[in-house]
Amino acid sequence: MEETIKKLQIALGVLLIALLVVFITGAALIISYKPEPVVITPKPGDPTQPPKPAAPAALDPVAQKGESLFKNNCAACHSAGDDVVVGPGLKGISKRAPSKDWLYKWIHNSSAVVASGDAYGNQIFNKFNKIPMQSFPDLANEDIDAILKYLDAQGG
Ligand code: HEC
Repeated sequence: MEETIKKLQIALGVLLIALLVVFITGAALIISYKPEPVVITPKPGDPTQPPKPAAPAALDPVAQKGESLFKNNCAACHSAGDDVVVGPGLKGISKRAPSKDWLYKWIHNSSAVVASGDAYGNQIFNKFNKIPMQSFPDLANEDIDAILKYLDAQGG
């Protein structure tokens, strides 16, 4: 009888020690656990990812020159958009005007175009209460090309 009790006590002791070891290792594991940060790398073309905004298209050097020519010579009376200032907004002018050649002539001397009886010129002149547009005889055709390139870059 006493023998059995002793054996039981030993078995219990061993069990306790085993439990203690398990407990301590468990605790040590829990303390030392550092979760890896979860990194989700988006797959290209993944429809769940918001599309990256396209970088605003930079103006090429010619259009940049056109922009400063426009600001210095035309912006007092024209917007590069749709708004009327003194004259009409010049967005989409390349498509609207009769031709490139017409634009050169108009910008060099709009009064001469109106006086020649040109239909489009007279129509726009009358629409804007016969306010004559300032003449720019010193603007080279390539300066006008640059201005038009800048205006084309505004869309329309
Ligand atoms: C003093 C004001 C003034 C300035 C400066 C001016 N414009 Fe004008 N522009 C007008 C007016 C007003 C009209 C409308 C037609 C008219 O009344 O002769 C016009 C019309 C035009 C048109 C025809 C628009 C259309 O819808 O068909 C073009 C193109 C144009 N201007 C280009 C230019 C450019 C390029 C410059 C700069 C180099 C310029 N203008 C500077 C007043 C001006």
